[in-house]
Amino acid sequence: MRGTEIAFTESGKGVPVVLLHGYPFDKSMWSEQLEALAAAGFRAIAPDLRGLGETVAPTLVGDFAGESPILKSVPLATMDDMARDTAALLDHLRLEQAVICGLSMGGYVAFEFMHLFPERVVGLVLAGTRAPADNEQEKAGREQQVQTMLRAGMVPISIATLPKLLAKRTLAEKPDVVKRVRAMITRSDPKGAAAAQRGMAARRDYTQDLANINVPTLIIVGREDSIRPIADAEFMHQGIRNSRLEIIEDAAHMTNMEQPDAFNQMLASLINK
Ligand code: MLT
Repeated sequence: MRGTEIAFTESGKGVPVVLLHGYPFDKSMWSEQLEALAAAGFRAIAPDLRGLGETVAPTLVGDFAGESPILKSVPLATMDDMARDTAALLDHLRLEQAVICGLSMGGYVAFEFMHLFPERVVGLVLAGTRAPADNEQEKAGREQQVQTMLRAGMVPISIATLPKLLAKRTLAEKPDVVKRVRAMITRSDPKGAAAAQRGMAARRDYTQDLANINVPTLIIVGREDSIRPIADAEFMHQGIRNSRLEIIEDAAHMTNMEQPDAFNQMLASLINK
């Protein structure tokens, strides 16, 4: 589809729910939701977004002046690309409409999908994400991370980010979750992750989109999320008319993996409406 092969997992039958993962993760972060949604009578579909998991980012860009050949050869995976890939996947599955659920980077893709294909969205879930674009300092931080991963691989990224991604309690009491998150990061392809990281730096400001969102929307945030804190969730909640805000305790950024039961219940209550 659209010049690349999109890897995806699906389970269940019923109203389709598309689960869009964060960065630098992959569709395996949704395993508890795939199972719970199928058991609750929904069809859950989780793609690997361009550059991550098993989906490669084929578009080469060469406009990073002054960079070494390896940095120049990194493709760019934009949020627009990822949203269009998601629509192509729905076409492939012959599905007209779906609930779109995105976490963090997946939330940016959900915003873009909502903007491009509003008639295809019957409900929206925005978890651990935010509407505004990056400022210059944040963009520079992303570029610094790109250079680290291209030179030294993903291990330094996992060491630096794990303590921020997970709540204190998860780190202390849920070694399996810690292991899964670490494994997702370290097995990511550095070039693909770099493509997505640069895609996030280039993303639009979604603030103007908030007032146009007219489907039932659930906003989820972890109480301990320092990457996309509660204030970001409140900002989206104020801007989106038909939205509900839920805060998950004992969770940071990876709410769906840290507290799957709470996350799944919220998701099911939006879809069951
Ligand atoms: C994510 O989890 O997808 C990222 O933290 C999002 C971001 O860097 O903006």
